[in-house]
Parts: sequence; structure tokens; C-alpha cells
Amino acid sequence: MAKPTFRNNNNNNKSSSSSIWLTDGFLFLGGAFSALLLVWGFTSFTNPIPNENTSLKPQQNDAVLYSSPDLLFDPSDKTFYDDPEMGYTMSDKIENWDEKRQEWLKLHPSFSAGAKERILMITGSQPAACKNPIGDHLLLRFFKNKVDYCRIHGYDIFYNNALLHPKMFAYWAKYPVVKAAMMSHPEAEWIWWVDSDALFTDMEFKLPLERYKDHNLVVHGWEHLIHEKRSWTGLNAGVFLIRNCQWSLDFMEAWAGMGPQSPDYEEWGKILRSTFKDKFFPESDDQTGLAYLIAIEKEKWANKIYLEGEYYFEGYWEEIRGTFDNISKKYDEIEKDVIRLRRRHAEKVSESYGVIREKYLKDAGYGKGSWRRPFVTHFTGCQPCSGKYNEMYSADDCWNGMRSALNFADNQVMRKFGFVHPDLDDDKRVSPLPFDYPQPWP
Ligand SMILES: *[C@@H]1O[C@H](CO)[C@@H](O)[C@H](O)[C@H]1NC(C)=O
Ligand SMILES: *[C@@H]1O[C@H](CO)[C@@H](O)[C@H](O)[C@H]1NC(C)=O
Repeated sequence: MAKPTFRNNNNNNKSSSSSIWLTDGFLFLGGAFSALLLVWGFTSFTNPIPNENTSLKPQQNDAVLYSSPDLLFDPSDKTFYDDPEMGYTMSDKIENWDEKRQEWLKLHPSFSAGAKERILMITGSQPAACKNPIGDHLLLRFFKNKVDYCRIHGYDIFYNNALLHPKMFAYWAKYPVVKAAMMSHPEAEWIWWVDSDALFTDMEFKLPLERYKDHNLVVHGWEHLIHEKRSWTGLNAGVFLIRNCQWSLDFMEAWAGMGPQSPDYEEWGKILRSTFKDKFFPESDDQTGLAYLIAIEKEKWANKIYLEGEYYFEGYWEEIRGTFDNISKKYDEIEKDVIRLRRRHAEKVSESYGVIREKYLKDAGYGKGSWRRPFVTHFTGCQPCSGKYNEMYSADDCWNGMRSALNFADNQVMRKFGFVHPDLDDDKRVSPLPFDYPQPWP
């Protein structure tokens, strides 16, 4: 992150475990958005995600669909890839992308099964080593978590640590990657950007894609905060789902047009700040830019953008971090009652257990105050790589929060391998799980 306002160099009275945070940092390119000082209330969940049929038929299992594509087949018919004018960079204009993608899909029919649900996840970080001495270790663990989630659900994942456009630094760096990924993955219907400092804390929950069928961009946000309050934190741009289509290319062109590679960058900084009064730093940023396009260029874009506020599409870590122990207890109680759920099973069939568990989570709610595992926990402002955490947090809160979230998530993975971290605050210790864990009380 480039904003000196967030730097915290005078914090000398922390314990030794905090000192890792005090190192000198540099621009953080991975898109970790440090400035989100969010204290949003979550609306109640009025539109629940429908339960799937709890029988264990595999037709809903993306992993099955994903295993069918023929990876050895690429016919010699010409496609957009053979067009010398086709370029991958931000400035290469692409037209008729929907038709071009369709043509490619027609030539590769083995990709047609499950095509509408196919997801490519993208995340990444800066090209250089982290300044925070444990920054690279933390990024590794955050990435491991995403790999785990993708493996369980059969999604592809791409990690980028190259700066594809030299001027599009910090949070702007993700757009050239997302664009290039659309070109390189015509089989993917959706690109799911997840910031390096966000992690999956519910390994079973799946995006309710059916809900987004008429939309091309999904972000965590609240209409009234953008339209009425005109708050730049009315949404969060650190996690988004964007459809691989011409609309998205056009939209990203408009969006990235506010970025540092544009001659209008400074001007956009002023416009954004005067529109969203709570934006406290002068540079144009992608999040306020998105809020602007939704609020001001409403007619043009807003009807294709879904503001998801009903579950933790991404959740603010400060609101979540104290809840892991109680949530674990609730889930254990369910498993004590439901023999099917505590049965050992192969990781490959995890999705079916998620479907069964859903029945017992009816009263859990979603979002704030719920005892459902939060879907995505975002350590916005903690800056694991640079260590320059926002001064409104303490180093210990950031570090302890990340550790317990990473272990909470890892327990859901390790369970299938027969082990558990008994203490969420202890990274090193794991214990084998006894048969029939957690057994019912006698
Ligand atoms: C679930 O699917 C099975 C098999 O397709 C069917 O027999 C059963 O009635 C379905 N259950 C519900 C609750 O829809
Ligand atoms: C966890 O549960 C206990 C006992 O029900 C309760 O007193 C406590 O407030 C809960 N903690 C949180 C963070 O919800």
C-alpha cells in the first residue's frame, strides 16, 4: 500500500511478538486494502441460499464436472489466439469477446459441461520479498488456504506476483491480471479475485451462483451506504467475482481509467474525494472508483453489479475474530448428534457433507451475530507483507487474529487428514483425531 497515512512507525512499546510488524515496508502490490475502516452493520439474511437435495448424488459436484475436459485436444481451427492484433495488456482493446469466447468453447466441447459455473480464482502479491520478516510465511499460509478451498471445490487457481503494468501499482495491480486471465482462460465463466490477506473460514460454503445469473460483477457492499451515505466503504473491492465477458472488459476499462496509468489520475482523485466525503486520502483508488461508477454512472453499469450484503462474501476481521471458539463448539454439538457428519470420509467427497450440514445450520444466520462459520475473513488494514498495519489496530490483534483464523480454517481441512490443531492460538501443535470424533457425551 502506498499511503503514508497508514504508516505506523512510532509504536515501540509492544511485546516481542509485535516487533515483526514494525519493520520498514514498501508498496504492497497484492491488493491488500489497508484503508477499510469498516464498522458496517450486517442486514439480516432475508433471502437464504436454498438447500440442495441432501442425497449424495454427484451431479452437483463441480469437481466431477472439472475432471471431464479433454486437456489434450486443441483443434487447428483459427481462434482469437491466432489474431496478431489480440493482446493481453490493459491498453489492448478487445471487441466481440463474448462471440470469440463462444467460438473457442464450441471448438472445445469437452469444456461445455458445467461451463456456466466454472471459476478461476486469482490472488497474488508483490514481486519482491516481504519487508515484514514473517510476511512471506503469512502469505504462504493465506495462499495455502485458497489452494485448499479450490481443491475441495474443483476450482482452478492462479497466483500472480508480477507487476503486469509498471504504473498500475498497489490495489490497481489486479486489473491487468484479471484481464489477462479472461483471455487465457476462455473456459472460465467467472474470475474470482481474492486479496492475499483474505482467507476462507468456511471451507464448505459455496458461492450462490444462481443468485448472480443476471449480473456480471459481485462485490460485498450495501446500496444505501453508496447511494445515500456516499461512503467509500459502502463496498469492498478486495474480493470480487467478475464474469468473463465483454461487459466486464468494458467495465474494467472505465474502472482502470481512474488509475495511475491514466493522465486523469490526479483529477479522478479530486472527483472521488469530493463525491465520497469520508475518503481521507487524495489518490484515486479502485474501491472508491467502483463506488463512483455504481453511484454516479448508475444507468450505465449498476444493473449488472450485485452488491452482496447477506453473507460474508468478505468479512471484516475485527468483527469476526472473537467468534471462532464459540462457532467451533456449535459445530461440534451438531456433529455429536449427527453420526453421518462425524463419519470419516475422503476429502474428494467433502461437498456432500457440506450439503448435509446445511440442514443443521438453518438457525445459524449469516454475517454479523451469526454462529455460521464466516465464509471469507479479510484482514484489511493488517498488511501481513509490509507489516505496516493501520494504526487503528494493534499488532497483536492483527497477528493473533490471523493466526486463529488460519488455524480455524486449517482445522476444517486437517479433519479429513485425521488431525486437528487443538488450540487455535498454537500453530505448531496438532493432535490425531480419535475415531468418531467428537463423540456424543455419555
Ligand atoms: C432428493 O433426491 C432424491 C433422488 O433424486 C429424491 O428421491 C428425494 O425425494 C429428494 N429429496 C428432496 C427433499 O427433494
Ligand atoms: C461465547 O459463548 C459464551 C457462552 O455462551 C458467551 O458468554 C460469549 O459471550 C460468547 N462469545 C462471543 C464472542 O460471542
